[in-house]
Amino acid sequence: MEDVLAYQGKNVVVTGAASGMGQATARILVDLGARVSGLDVKAIDAPVASEIRVDLRDPDSIDAAIAAIEGSVDHVFSCAGLPGPPFSELDTMLVNFVGARHLIEGLLPRMAEADASIGCISSAGAAGWQEHIPAIKDLLANETFAQAKAWLEANEDIWSWSGYLWSKYAIDGWVSSFGADLIRRGIRLNCINPGPTDTPMMPAFHELAGKEMIDSAIGPIGRYSTPEEQAWPLVLLNSPRMSYVAAEILWTDGGFMGSLTMGKHGGFGEGQLD
Ligand SMILES: NC(=O)c1ccc[n+]([C@@H]2O[C@H](COP(=O)([O-])OP(=O)(O)OC[C@H]3O[C@@H](n4cnc5c(N)ncnc54)[C@H](O)[C@@H]3O)[C@@H](O)[C@H]2O)c1
Repeated sequence: MEDVLAYQGKNVVVTGAASGMGQATARILVDLGARVSGLDVKAIDAPVASEIRVDLRDPDSIDAAIAAIEGSVDHVFSCAGLPGPPFSELDTMLVNFVGARHLIEGLLPRMAEADASIGCISSAGAAGWQEHIPAIKDLLANETFAQAKAWLEANEDIWSWSGYLWSKYAIDGWVSSFGADLIRRGIRLNCINPGPTDTPMMPAFHELAGKEMIDSAIGPIGRYSTPEEQAWPLVLLNSPRMSYVAAEILWTDGGFMGSLTMGKHGGFGEGQLD
């Protein structure tokens, strides 16, 4: 069988294509024959067909990036993110969730409704996101970037203890909820929840939470993942071959969630990641 994952000639958008998992995703998709539009706030090294600068904290910049993407869009890979400090908690929420959602929703009218898909990167740090569903629903009810930002500014007590973890709760909640709406239109929305991964973001996690704490979120696989080990599941999830998979959260965490759920995960950092 040729073109096993059916990406040849497809128009795909990859955010965060300058680094880490997004860069690995962009490289794989180029190898698979897709026409990749890479979006990032930084310069992109991967051999993408088109490089577009975007600042996901800024709705005008996002709208300009949408306008700069040529033609129709088959698949979106939402990989850009901030780790929290040294970046502000609000910027982290805006880049990881509010801006990502604004970009994706802005691209929807350009997406074909056959085989179209959107894959986001959340985090294994979203473990326990269901406990926050009432607040997530309140946030999701704010449909525009400006409304969501205003909600965040008015409700800091709910989320600002960790813009990073909260942004990941929001992604998992949005994928579950909006993913169920979108599949009625034939568009699949899913996400992966990676465990600790060796990317340029990792030093910020070590600085913030301590290496011991991050290491305690390693699954029974016993090591960090590589960026490619996250990029491949995302590429598979967004492939037309996964046509019956929608509104799904795929835990790409080396067995962490399974062992945590069944009480087999020792030493997990005292609920700090829940
Ligand atoms: N590294 C990990 O251990 C880990 C674990 C779970 C989830 N994640 C998530 O994986 C995703 C990819 O992260 P990574 O580890 O590859 O990190 P990374 O820092 O290597 O890549 C993040 C990319 O996002 C871009 N970005 C940051 N701010 C932006 C903005 N304002 N506008 C546009 N682009 C912006 C950066 O320039 C960078 O290219 C993120 O969503 C992250 O939260 C990472």
